[in-house]
Amino acid sequence: MPTALTDFCRHPIVQAPMAGGGSGPELAAAVCEAGGFGFLAAGYKTADGMYQEIKRLRGTTGRPFGVNLFMPQPELTDTSAVEVYREQLAGETAWYETELGDINGPTDDGYEAKLAILRDDPVPLVSFTFGCPSRAALDAFAKVGTYTVVTVTTAAEAQAAQWAGADAVCVQGVEAGGHQGTHRDDPHADGTGSGLGLLALLAQVRETVQIPVIAAGGLMRGAQIAAVLAAGASMAQLGTAFLATPESGADPLHKQALTNPLFTHTELTRAFSGRPARGLVNRFLREHGPYAPAAYPAVHHLTSPVRKAAAKAGDAQGLNLWAGQGHRLAREMPAGQLVEVLAAELHAARAAFGQGGPGHGIGGAA
Ligand SMILES: Cc1cc2nc3c(=O)[nH]c(=O)nc-3n(C[C@H](O)[C@H](O)[C@H](O)COP(=O)(O)O)c2cc1C
Repeated sequence: MPTALTDFCRHPIVQAPMAGGGSGPELAAAVCEAGGFGFLAAGYKTADGMYQEIKRLRGTTGRPFGVNLFMPQPELTDTSAVEVYREQLAGETAWYETELGDINGPTDDGYEAKLAILRDDPVPLVSFTFGCPSRAALDAFAKVGTYTVVTVTTAAEAQAAQWAGADAVCVQGVEAGGHQGTHRDDPHADGTGSGLGLLALLAQVRETVQIPVIAAGGLMRGAQIAAVLAAGASMAQLGTAFLATPESGADPLHKQALTNPLFTHTELTRAFSGRPARGLVNRFLREHGPYAPAAYPAVHHLTSPVRKAAAKAGDAQGLNLWAGQGHRLAREMPAGQLVEVLAAELHAARAAFGQGGPGHGIGGAA
């Protein structure tokens, strides 16, 4: 089993998994080939869909890569808040001439079937979001030589991940684009952002656990990567920066919105999925964010046809435009080139900090 991510790639740069089409085999291959670490996002895919992507990626690059899984969510016992939300979305169905989706869609994201495939035909690394796997699941990956990473948004979640036997944690600051990987969405929190910023969280996690850390959230430039490495991270994970590349499968409306001055800022919202996620503030988020219930994935299923209809109509105001706080700094360049530019910026920043130092070993001394 590889014990260090340094064995996997040349640069301490991880391309974040991005479910919903953002990160497929093309993006991951380009990143891996350029010396970064590429990820496939299994979230929202069937187990077979995930496996087909793994095979396609293996056919394009021989380099190591990761697969990201969503943890199963509790069944919704009381649907009343979602039924109220359904009523509140009536205007959307009229506007986009579509129905709302079935709130009783699956809550487990095919987790067990995906685990079975990944155990039978192991990949180098598997990461998890929305919870912490059982010790048995993590042990089973260790046995087949797969490195495991659990996404965390608090020091307590990092501790739980270490206790369960994860090899590393991905520390996700509140700046991050897309869903917060919070292990349990607290329905009593308003969901709009009491989370910690990356540097504050990183320091807490580093003083709580001994396992290596990947840092994520708002990172767009090599100097920021240098900063999180200086603060104790072994690697930096970037989502929004890679979303803008031609290899990303994000909707062109989404890509354009990242740097469109019409979209001035991002917010955390439950409006689209029922779980806090950071996106560009558009009409849908502004109107429905204030009262959207904590009910993931029921709300995800509910709004799915509206989001699809908005995309079809070319209307970015009805889409979930996931983006991190650094979105304005997105650069529309090929993903391999982006890895090289980030690595050069990192090198220059480290030289300026007098931080040259040896490798970036995630498996090195933590
Ligand atoms: C469009 C989009 C989709 C995402 N999907 C996932 C996902 O499927 N799994 C996951 O663990 N994180 C996901 N994330 C979060 C990233 O892993 C990472 O935490 C985040 O992109 C870092 O912040 P940044 O976007 O500012 O770089 C997603 C982020 C974005 C922007």
